[in-house]
Amino acid sequence: MKIAVASDHGGFALKEKVKEHLIERGFDVEDLGTHSEESVDYPVYGKVCGEAVASGKADLGVVVCGTGIGISIAANKVKGIRCGLCTSVEMAHLTKQHNNANILALGGRTTEPELALKIVDEWLDTEFEGGRHQRRVDMLDQM
Ligand code: RB5
Repeated sequence: MKIAVASDHGGFALKEKVKEHLIERGFDVEDLGTHSEESVDYPVYGKVCGEAVASGKADLGVVVCGTGIGISIAANKVKGIRCGLCTSVEMAHLTKQHNNANILALGGRTTEPELALKIVDEWLDTEFEGGRHQRRVDMLDQM
């Protein structure tokens, strides 16, 4: 499985940790930038990750900015993307189980790395429940 990762400068440090963790877990990781803490614009990186997942070049994505808010808004503007911003393990579980989120957003300045990696694992290891949630996800994808 291929996972695309992307961040702005505010999410760079956490994106690097997430990337290392995903590689350790055996995933094929594509790093779409940014590659330093030099200031960049989060919409660019949310869009590029959204497009990678929507086009099928990557199966899933993880995006990180300072809060996770801006980059999740950007990713969600790409048709077919369901990006869930998570600040707890429970949210990570539910955004896969109910929303079938294909991109996870994290806040590099708001979520401690140890918790962020638990959130990543919970999201990856949870199955989408389907059923009534499939209909709602289909509604999202038609917007
Ligand atoms: C960049 O300073 C900051 O605005 C950005 O990382 C993010 O938090 C936006 O939502």
